[in-house]
Amino acid sequence: MLKSLFAYGVLGVFLIPAKCDQISVCVNDTDLRVDCRIPPTPNKISSYHFSLATEGKEFVINTNVSGSSAETRFQGKSYVVELEPKGYRMILEDFKDKLKGSTTYMCKINAQTASVSVEKEKLVKCSAVSLLVKSSCSWIFCLLIFFYHSHS
Ligand SMILES: *[C@@H]1O[C@H](CO)[C@@H](O)[C@H](O)[C@H]1NC(C)=O
Ligand SMILES: *[C@@H]1O[C@H](CO)[C@@H](O)[C@H](O)[C@H]1NC(C)=O
Repeated sequence: MLKSLFAYGVLGVFLIPAKCDQISVCVNDTDLRVDCRIPPTPNKISSYHFSLATEGKEFVINTNVSGSSAETRFQGKSYVVELEPKGYRMILEDFKDKLKGSTTYMCKINAQTASVSVEKEKLVKCSAVSLLVKSSCSWIFCLLIFFYHSHS
């Protein structure tokens, strides 16, 4: 029982929020789309902050955190929309061809950060993403049920 609780906890804590939920990156033609689904802090004005890191440097793409601003080369190239039920989506126009190698995408809502690293060749098309996210989440869910049943 203790063992299954442990497995359940480890899977629940590390896999679910990290893999299924908080940040996803995809491309639509030449646009880059980053979805950030960090829940907002209750009773607090939310702010968003999108950036990417490549070759050890971080570049701000779009933000409305007071006091910070986007990198010059990203200014006017991106926009942010609200996602339902939570989070923000950032779209960076005409950018896919300018990426090289592995890039880390980061987003921050209030003080919480999510990040993901993706090789340029492994960026997926946006039309394929919703399917992918759904299937990896339900796969983990099945695993949890399996652990739960096999140990209780
Ligand atoms: C892809 O871009 C086109 C043109 O900008 C837009 O109409 C369409 O909604 C976008 N599709 C996705 C999945 O974001
Ligand atoms: C940032 O933008 C969101 C959505 O437009 C808005 O609700 C929020 O108040 C803005 N935050 C700041 C600090 O301006």
